Amino acid sequence: MGLLKNFSENYLEFFTQLKCFKNNQVLRYIYIMNIFIIGGTGFVGSRLIPKLLDQHQITVLTRNQDKGNLLARRGVHVVFGDLCEMDRISGQVEKQDLVIYMAMPPVRMGRNTRKHIYKLSQVIKKYLNNTVKFVKEQKCPVVFTLGTSYKTGKNETADETWPIHRFGMTIAGQYFDTLLSELEKEGKIPVIQVIPGQIYGPGGLFLKILRMAYQKRYIVFGNGKNRIPRIHVEDIAEGYACIVKKMPLGEKFIFSDDYPCTTMEFNSYLFELISGKKINPKRIPTFLLRILLGKYVTETMMTNCVVSNLKAKEQLEWKLTYPTYKEGLKATVDAYQKGIY
Ligand SMILES: NC(=O)c1ccc[n+]([C@@H]2O[C@H](COP(=O)([O-])OP(=O)(O)OC[C@H]3O[C@@H](n4cnc5c(N)ncnc54)[C@H](OP(=O)(O)O)[C@@H]3O)[C@@H](O)[C@H]2O)c1
Repeated sequence: MGLLKNFSENYLEFFTQLKCFKNNQVLRYIYIMNIFIIGGTGFVGSRLIPKLLDQHQITVLTRNQDKGNLLARRGVHVVFGDLCEMDRISGQVEKQDLVIYMAMPPVRMGRNTRKHIYKLSQVIKKYLNNTVKFVKEQKCPVVFTLGTSYKTGKNETADETWPIHRFGMTIAGQYFDTLLSELEKEGKIPVIQVIPGQIYGPGGLFLKILRMAYQKRYIVFGNGKNRIPRIHVEDIAEGYACIVKKMPLGEKFIFSDDYPCTTMEFNSYLFELISGKKINPKRIPTFLLRILLGKYVTETMMTNCVVSNLKAKEQLEWKLTYPTYKEGLKATVDAYQKGIY
């Protein structure tokens, strides 16, 4: 509530009133928001936009002419520009009611040294600072996307009350934590946080894994017993759509599926779907991974993290189409084989 009080724009009062009328479907459906998406051309963004376009006016920031033109033909406002140079685009944008930040910083594939992590952290800092500056100009709430970064022990399950634990590649996003606590203290911008598990599906970073599997590179890192939260791309896109419907200002949500599978279960099933037979993946020992990919990537791959998705289900009425990796991977491979990615 503190955030709402400090925020002076009229439409936020409207949101508060909307909460009182939350059973009044008509009232909900007549409110059209201007939503600005940073990262709207990406793996998740491209699945989110069709879910919002019927009801809201969407503007997307992109550096990519082809993707921008495609979106423009579908009725999206497109602003061509770079998040690193937001000053150039400020004048081109009409008043927004919500900004969704889902930009992917330039993560380097393969080996990452301390120098690479430092460089990446500087880009992330710039992305975040420019987004905050833009949001302050717009005087509207923002949805920020983080990476899941919890470390759980045996029989432990993390939820949104757990402190974020930064290790491996997620160290590069440390500035996020400082910024979020500053914004909370300031109380000027209402923030909603999205904490996704590893996003898989036919596209994005997962394409590399799919292609490796099709090249019969049947491998698993370490002993494959660690668990990493997973979420199908369609389900995370639906999660954002639920956030837009409910506008739960000041809240954070973990988006992962229902079954915390091990990396061995996940990879073996993917290989089985692709090859049509049971496969025993080759294990790449951790010491070799550290030599090949460095400490940061190895720590990220070898993490053990089990999370709860209960809050998103209860508060957002979020429903999963792919509750476990089994349905999700089947749909992924089917789509990939049909060339849909
Ligand atoms: N994929 C995962 O497993 C995963 C896991 C946890 C969290 N996340 C987070 O989830 C969000 C969505 O991920 P995703 O997989 O959908 O990402 P993605 O497919 O790689 O999309 C990246 C998006 O970021 C935009 N972008 C990057 N740098 C930009 C810049 N300088 N200026 C303007 N736009 C820029 C790109 O726009 P243009 O190229 O069109 O300019 C593109 O739309 C990201 O914040 C990511 O960090 C992803």
